Amino acid sequence: MITFQDYYQNTVRLSFAFQPFSQSPKHVWVICKYDGKWLLTIHKRRGIEFPGGKVEEGETPEQAAYREVMEETGASIRALKYVGQYEVSGKAETIIKNIYFADIEKIQKKESYFETDGPILLTELPENIQTNEKYSFMMKDKVLTESIKKIGKGDVL
Ligand code: GTP
Repeated sequence: MITFQDYYQNTVRLSFAFQPFSQSPKHVWVICKYDGKWLLTIHKRRGIEFPGGKVEEGETPEQAAYREVMEETGASIRALKYVGQYEVSGKAETIIKNIYFADIEKIQKKESYFETDGPILLTELPENIQTNEKYSFMMKDKVLTESIKKIGKGDVL
Protein backbone atom coordinates (compact mmCIF):
# COMPACT_ATOMS: atom_id res chain seq x y z
CA MET A 1 0.00 0.00 0.00
CA ILE A 2 1.20 3.52 -0.69
CA THR A 3 0.03 6.79 0.86
CA PHE A 4 0.32 10.24 -0.69
CA GLN A 5 -1.46 13.58 -1.04
CA ASP A 6 -3.66 14.30 -4.06
CA TYR A 7 -4.04 17.53 -6.05
CA TYR A 8 -6.27 19.00 -3.29
CA GLN A 9 -3.96 17.81 -0.48
CA ASN A 10 -6.37 15.06 0.51
CA THR A 11 -4.69 11.88 1.78
CA VAL A 12 -4.89 8.94 -0.59
CA ARG A 13 -4.17 5.29 0.23
CA LEU A 14 -3.63 3.12 -2.87
CA SER A 15 -3.31 -0.65 -3.01
CA PHE A 16 -3.17 -3.28 -5.74
CA ALA A 17 -4.55 -5.98 -3.45
CA PHE A 18 -8.15 -7.09 -3.98
CA GLN A 19 -10.52 -4.56 -2.41
CA PRO A 20 -8.50 -3.88 0.79
CA PHE A 21 -10.48 -0.81 1.91
CA SER A 22 -14.04 -1.88 1.07
CA GLN A 23 -15.81 -4.88 -0.41
CA SER A 24 -18.57 -2.60 -1.64
CA PRO A 25 -16.84 0.49 -3.02
CA LYS A 26 -19.16 3.27 -4.11
CA HIS A 27 -17.00 4.60 -6.96
CA VAL A 28 -15.16 3.21 -9.98
CA TRP A 29 -12.48 4.51 -12.32
CA VAL A 30 -11.77 2.78 -15.62
CA ILE A 31 -8.48 3.07 -17.50
CA CYS A 32 -9.49 2.30 -21.08
CA LYS A 33 -7.53 1.22 -24.11
CA TYR A 34 -8.92 1.05 -27.65
CA ASP A 35 -6.90 -0.09 -30.64
CA GLY A 36 -3.59 0.74 -28.93
CA LYS A 37 -4.77 4.19 -27.79
CA TRP A 38 -5.94 5.49 -24.41
CA LEU A 39 -9.66 6.29 -24.34
CA LEU A 40 -10.70 9.11 -22.03
CA THR A 41 -13.66 11.44 -21.64
CA ILE A 42 -13.83 15.23 -21.60
CA HIS A 43 -15.64 16.09 -18.39
CA LYS A 44 -17.40 19.45 -18.76
CA ARG A 45 -16.19 20.77 -15.41
CA ARG A 46 -13.06 18.78 -14.53
CA GLY A 47 -11.43 18.31 -17.94
CA ILE A 48 -9.93 15.21 -19.54
CA GLU A 49 -10.00 12.07 -17.43
CA PHE A 50 -10.54 8.35 -17.66
CA PRO A 51 -14.26 7.57 -17.32
CA GLY A 52 -15.89 6.49 -14.09
CA GLY A 53 -18.34 7.50 -11.42
CA LYS A 54 -20.65 6.29 -8.70
CA VAL A 55 -21.89 2.74 -8.22
CA GLU A 56 -25.69 2.87 -8.25
CA GLU A 57 -28.06 1.08 -5.87
CA GLY A 58 -28.26 -2.64 -6.75
CA GLU A 59 -25.25 -2.49 -9.07
CA THR A 60 -21.89 -4.25 -8.70
CA PRO A 61 -18.74 -2.15 -9.21
CA GLU A 62 -18.08 -4.06 -12.44
CA GLN A 63 -21.57 -3.22 -13.74
CA ALA A 64 -20.95 0.43 -12.85
CA ALA A 65 -17.69 0.30 -14.82
CA TYR A 66 -19.47 -0.97 -17.97
CA ARG A 67 -22.27 1.59 -17.58
CA GLU A 68 -20.07 4.62 -16.87
CA VAL A 69 -17.74 3.86 -19.80
CA MET A 70 -20.77 3.61 -22.13
CA GLU A 71 -22.42 6.76 -20.74
CA GLU A 72 -19.32 8.92 -20.85
CA THR A 73 -17.64 7.67 -24.05
CA GLY A 74 -20.09 5.44 -26.00
CA ALA A 75 -17.63 2.56 -25.71
CA SER A 76 -18.36 -1.08 -25.02
CA ILE A 77 -15.90 -3.16 -23.02
CA ARG A 78 -14.54 -6.45 -24.39
CA ALA A 79 -12.70 -7.38 -21.18
CA LEU A 80 -12.52 -5.74 -17.78
CA LYS A 81 -9.78 -6.41 -15.23
CA TYR A 82 -9.51 -5.32 -11.63
CA VAL A 83 -6.35 -3.25 -11.03
CA GLY A 84 -6.59 -1.88 -7.49
CA GLN A 85 -8.47 0.25 -5.02
CA TYR A 86 -7.90 3.65 -3.42
CA GLU A 87 -9.33 5.64 -0.57
CA VAL A 88 -9.44 9.44 -0.56
CA SER A 89 -9.89 11.03 2.87
CA GLY A 90 -11.27 14.49 2.30
CA LYS A 91 -12.33 17.15 4.78
CA ALA A 92 -16.01 16.26 4.47
CA GLU A 93 -16.01 12.62 3.41
CA THR A 94 -13.99 9.54 2.55
CA ILE A 95 -14.52 7.86 -0.79
CA ILE A 96 -13.34 4.45 -1.96
CA LYS A 97 -12.82 3.70 -5.65
CA ASN A 98 -12.04 0.53 -7.59
CA ILE A 99 -9.64 0.92 -10.51
CA TYR A 100 -10.20 -1.22 -13.59
CA PHE A 101 -8.45 -1.72 -16.89
CA ALA A 102 -10.78 -2.08 -19.87
CA ASP A 103 -10.05 -3.43 -23.31
CA ILE A 104 -12.52 -1.55 -25.51
CA GLU A 105 -14.29 -3.38 -28.29
CA LYS A 106 -16.04 -0.54 -30.10
CA ILE A 107 -17.01 3.11 -29.75
CA GLN A 108 -20.46 4.23 -30.90
CA LYS A 109 -21.38 7.83 -31.51
CA LYS A 110 -24.05 9.07 -29.11
CA GLU A 111 -26.45 12.02 -28.82
CA SER A 112 -25.49 12.75 -25.24
CA TYR A 113 -22.58 11.81 -22.98
CA PHE A 114 -24.11 12.85 -19.64
CA GLU A 115 -21.91 15.37 -17.84
CA THR A 116 -19.14 14.96 -20.39
CA ASP A 117 -18.41 16.09 -23.95
CA GLY A 118 -17.70 12.50 -24.95
CA PRO A 119 -14.65 10.47 -25.90
CA ILE A 120 -11.10 11.45 -26.72
CA LEU A 121 -8.41 9.04 -27.96
CA LEU A 122 -4.76 9.67 -27.12
CA THR A 123 -1.74 7.84 -28.47
CA GLU A 124 0.20 8.94 -25.38
CA LEU A 125 -0.68 10.62 -22.11
CA PRO A 126 1.14 13.98 -22.01
CA GLU A 127 4.30 14.39 -19.89
CA ASN A 128 2.97 17.63 -18.35
CA ILE A 129 -0.34 16.23 -17.15
CA GLN A 130 0.21 17.51 -13.54
CA THR A 131 0.32 21.14 -14.72
CA ASN A 132 -1.89 20.86 -17.80
CA GLU A 133 -5.19 22.70 -17.16
CA LYS A 134 -7.00 20.60 -19.74
CA TYR A 135 -6.67 17.54 -17.48
CA SER A 136 -8.86 16.69 -14.51
CA PHE A 137 -7.44 16.70 -10.95
CA MET A 138 -8.08 12.92 -10.91
CA MET A 139 -5.30 12.48 -13.45
CA LYS A 140 -2.78 14.43 -11.35
CA ASP A 141 -1.78 12.12 -8.54
CA LYS A 142 0.03 8.81 -8.13
CA VAL A 143 -3.15 6.77 -8.71
CA LEU A 144 -2.67 7.29 -12.45
CA THR A 145 1.10 6.80 -12.66
CA GLU A 146 1.17 3.74 -10.37
CA SER A 147 -1.83 2.13 -12.10
CA ILE A 148 -0.33 2.65 -15.56
CA LYS A 149 2.92 1.07 -14.31
CA LYS A 150 0.96 -1.89 -12.99
CA ILE A 151 -0.98 -2.29 -16.25
CA GLY A 152 2.23 -1.94 -18.27
CA LYS A 153 3.78 -4.84 -16.38
CA GLY A 154 0.76 -6.88 -17.41
CA ASP A 155 0.19 -8.21 -13.89
CA VAL A 156 -3.33 -6.96 -13.27
CA LEU A 157 -5.47 -9.64 -11.60
P1 GTP B 1 -20.20 14.67 -8.45
O1 GTP B 1 -21.31 13.81 -7.88
O2 GTP B 1 -19.40 13.95 -9.53
O3 GTP B 1 -20.59 16.04 -8.87
O4 GTP B 1 -19.14 14.89 -7.36
P2 GTP B 1 -19.06 15.12 -5.82
O5 GTP B 1 -18.42 16.47 -5.59
O6 GTP B 1 -20.26 14.73 -5.06
O7 GTP B 1 -17.90 14.14 -5.58
P3 GTP B 1 -17.66 12.67 -5.15
O8 GTP B 1 -18.64 12.17 -4.13
O9 GTP B 1 -17.46 11.88 -6.40
O10 GTP B 1 -16.26 12.90 -4.47
C1 GTP B 1 -16.12 13.70 -3.32
C2 GTP B 1 -14.72 14.26 -3.28
O11 GTP B 1 -13.79 13.20 -3.28
C3 GTP B 1 -14.32 15.12 -4.48
O12 GTP B 1 -14.66 16.45 -4.34
C4 GTP B 1 -12.81 14.93 -4.53
O13 GTP B 1 -12.14 15.82 -3.67
C5 GTP B 1 -12.64 13.52 -4.03
N1 GTP B 1 -12.48 12.58 -5.14
C6 GTP B 1 -13.44 11.94 -5.87
N2 GTP B 1 -12.90 11.17 -6.78
C7 GTP B 1 -11.56 11.28 -6.66
C8 GTP B 1 -10.45 10.69 -7.33
O14 GTP B 1 -10.58 9.89 -8.26
N3 GTP B 1 -9.21 11.05 -6.92
C9 GTP B 1 -9.01 11.93 -5.90
N4 GTP B 1 -7.77 12.23 -5.56
N5 GTP B 1 -10.04 12.51 -5.24
C10 GTP B 1 -11.29 12.17 -5.62
